[in-house]
Amino acid sequence: MTKIRAAITGVGGYVPDYVLTNQELETMVDTSDEWITTRTGIKERRILKGENQGVSVLGVNAVMEMIKKTKIDPKEIDLLIFATVTADMTFPATANIVATAVGAVNAFSYDISAACSGFLFALTTGASFIESGMYKKVVVVGGDKMSAIMDYTDRTTCIIFGDGAGCVLLEPTTEDVGIIDSILKSDGGGESYLHMKAGGSRMPASHATVDARQHFVYQEGSAVYKFAVTNMAEVSGQLAERNNLNAENVDWLVPHQANKRIIDATASRIGITEDKIMMKIERYGNTTAGTIPLLLWDYEKRLKKGDNLLLAAFGGGFTWGAIYVKWAYNS
Ligand SMILES: CC(C)(COP(=O)(O)OP(=O)(O)OC[C@H]1O[C@@H](n2cnc3c(N)ncnc32)[C@H](O)[C@@H]1OP(=O)(O)O)[C@@H](O)C(=O)NCCC(=O)NCCS
Repeated sequence: MTKIRAAITGVGGYVPDYVLTNQELETMVDTSDEWITTRTGIKERRILKGENQGVSVLGVNAVMEMIKKTKIDPKEIDLLIFATVTADMTFPATANIVATAVGAVNAFSYDISAACSGFLFALTTGASFIESGMYKKVVVVGGDKMSAIMDYTDRTTCIIFGDGAGCVLLEPTTEDVGIIDSILKSDGGGESYLHMKAGGSRMPASHATVDARQHFVYQEGSAVYKFAVTNMAEVSGQLAERNNLNAENVDWLVPHQANKRIIDATASRIGITEDKIMMKIERYGNTTAGTIPLLLWDYEKRLKKGDNLLLAAFGGGFTWGAIYVKWAYNS
């Protein structure tokens, strides 16, 4: 029997208009454009402003753009998965809010929480439903409104993150393109280094948690850096080796954008040169689950059918992984 693969057949993206520059951050915390640029590669990030504006706003805009571009009927969407750690509310799932807003009235929908690796986890999950033959149109969204959980008095974290969302449409194909292989990993031991302490069932919101600033991201940057730099490179190397991918036949490395130095380590593990690395860190910072689909959105016009893409991410949990995608269309 011919194998059914899940092909990415459309991409959408959205970043809010407000630009938070390193210069503006200099007025908020004790930092400098020079420190941020040399340590992370980030120059600016986007922020979603306004009352009652949750991450669903970013997701709806990204999915609507994809629907417009691909000209699909939203009623044909079978499943919508939203990867995020900044859901509009604890429940209902943000995926439900987005699906209804875009007119995907026949879809079922749910969220996935895997921080910066969220889009990779959701992409593999969505692809499995296509490969099994169960569904024909799956939308995978990754997005985060990190500004909602940022402590803008903590210079070690607030300089890294921004807001944005991207999405892909998955459809079945029997051609030799699509989601080819993946390695995904989790390690709950990472909890102490990167988390948001309060607001969940272990420590519900109270005056004390608010006073202690426990509703913000807590990150031990250098510990996370050491783990990320080793593991994102290692998993990418393993996936490359078992699929005979190398510096010559990888067309694009699509790496999570938390820190340029982590990206460089992953690229050098496989020998990939800078011209083959998708980069947007200087303009968007780290948009958590939004990062990888936003890269695909930004680079879509440069992608050709048959291109070999290596997606790689690392994030809170810890979670990390890599996915080999053979691009399915010419824009
Ligand atoms: C956060 C990160 C950029 C910090 O860079 P770093 O080189 O590790 O810096 P350190 O935390 O060791 O701090 C070095 C010094 O810079 C200072 N510093 C930290 N943030 C600063 C800022 N924004 N501006 C100026 N100085 C800063 C620290 O206080 C420290 O000063 P000290 O030596 O006097 O104590 C880096 O650790 C990182 O990228 N970590 C991984 C992030 C990640 O991948 N997360 C997972 C996905 S979200």
